[in-house]
Amino acid sequence: MISLTVNGKPQRVDADPATPLLYVLRNDLQMNGAKFGCGLGQCGACTVMIDGEAQFSCVTPVSSVQDRPIKTVEGLGTADDPGPLQRAFIEEQAAQCGYCIAGVLMRAQALLEKNPAVSEAEIRAGLSPNLCRCGSHARIVRAVRRAGAAMQRADADRQTKGAAQ
Ligand code: FES
Repeated sequence: MISLTVNGKPQRVDADPATPLLYVLRNDLQMNGAKFGCGLGQCGACTVMIDGEAQFSCVTPVSSVQDRPIKTVEGLGTADDPGPLQRAFIEEQAAQCGYCIAGVLMRAQALLEKNPAVSEAEIRAGLSPNLCRCGSHARIVRAVRRAGAAMQRADADRQTKGAAQ
């Protein structure tokens, strides 16, 4: 049995230790947000966050992520209550076919958690491992900047409220 923590929830799976994390997420845990694209660590469709870093789950053996925090797109929000990054992608209509988007969201989330004031150049460089064949890159960059601005406003509001108490 392998112990995982996915989106804050402990999970136990009966899987061969070499099984790619992507297969465990999709087949054992029914989390189908992360997608299979190339299976070779070359497209980014399978990207999830591990210990706060964006990683290709298709080339990550499940045994290597035992007891390390894993975050998937399912952990960012729901259809009824999207998180700030998901909301920004909807507002900018940043998805076209949508296949790459879960992976793009997770790489963008990792960038924003480190620095919500990330620059456009940093977004472009940071997202470069994730391919989008529809060519909606400009909208994706706008959405990440919009989400970063929303996160900064929320932080400022929290600080103002904290100072007033
Ligand atoms: Fe993992 Fe392409 S499916 S990088």
